[in-house]
Amino acid sequence: MKQLRIVVSSTRPGRIGPKVAEWVASQAPTSEWEVELLDLSSLPFFDEEDMPRNGNYAKPHTKDWASKVFESDAIVVVTPQYNRSFPAPIKNAIDYLFAEWDAKPIALVGYGWSGASDATADLTKVLEHVKADVVGATGLVFTQDVSPAGDLDVTDERRAELGALLDALAAKVDEPVGATA
Ligand SMILES: Cc1cc2nc3c(=O)[nH]c(=O)nc-3n(C[C@H](O)[C@H](O)[C@H](O)COP(=O)(O)O)c2cc1C
Repeated sequence: MKQLRIVVSSTRPGRIGPKVAEWVASQAPTSEWEVELLDLSSLPFFDEEDMPRNGNYAKPHTKDWASKVFESDAIVVVTPQYNRSFPAPIKNAIDYLFAEWDAKPIALVGYGWSGASDATADLTKVLEHVKADVVGATGLVFTQDVSPAGDLDVTDERRAELGALLDALAAKVDEPVGATA
């Protein structure tokens, strides 16, 4: 089974991120994926002394987070849009690590009034900087796919987009090591 981790980027009480993450989880075929939701609420503000690129992690929460990312075969990041970008906790979580992101297949699922398109575009840029393999993004649009309260009634179009992203992640995982495009 392939290990899929779904990261919830927001941490505020009452956030709708977990509902979006549950929907993403429900779309991942159980014959292919073993899914775990990851919550960033307990990850403190970046507090390692050494540079992440040295991999010399000292804190238990850094080691735990590094293991979660390293042991995943693929990741879906669900993100809202805060002030035209992604919320701070996901940047903090990315900044903690370095080597663990290298070639990691990642798909992005935004949610918001514009489907969080600015947030997913910015997140793509940051994740590509740490050499993650971003396969693409989709965005649930408020009132079309999800209500601002987090009630989901996702359109066929968005559902198909997520299906294609999950297929792309699965293809990356199945790719022989060292394969080039
Ligand atoms: C600080 C803050 C800034 C926001 N800025 C935007 C924005 O720029 N564009 C947008 O479409 N929605 C914006 N929203 C609305 C969020 O997309 C919406 O509240 C969403 O549910 C937040 O995700 P969460 O419930 O997982 O925290 C903002 C919300 C917050 C709390």
